[in-house]
Amino acid sequence: MSGDPLAAFRIEMNPAAPLAGTPLCRRDELPDPGSRGFSWEVGGQVFKAFLIHLKSQVFGYVDACPHAGWPLVGAGQQYLNSEASAVICRVHGARFIPENGHWINVPDVEGLITWPVEVRSDDIVYVA
Ligand code: FES
Repeated sequence: MSGDPLAAFRIEMNPAAPLAGTPLCRRDELPDPGSRGFSWEVGGQVFKAFLIHLKSQVFGYVDACPHAGWPLVGAGQQYLNSEASAVICRVHGARFIPENGHWINVPDVEGLITWPVEVRSDDIVYVA
């Protein structure tokens, strides 16, 4: 693969990416285990990302597969497999560790891009 297929998805390069401090949702709105996708558009640029809620922890990732840059999810916005053991790319079947975004089935390739998020004392998930 040549170049960087994810360049358009780098948070700092995308004007549609929400700023730190942007509230996303209440943690209790997310099933555990579960996931939820988000999308913003500014001036024709789109930023897509998702949250994973697993064992009371919340993780954020840019919704772009490092294989070819496609969004990971298909209909239904289910980013996790049924066992909640992997984040799945529905395009060609890549799998990632939910807690850190590393590849499971394609070694030595960059994993998911982390989207920094935090749960504050009000139990709301924010962009960090
Ligand atoms: S685009 Fe995700 S596995 Fe190919």
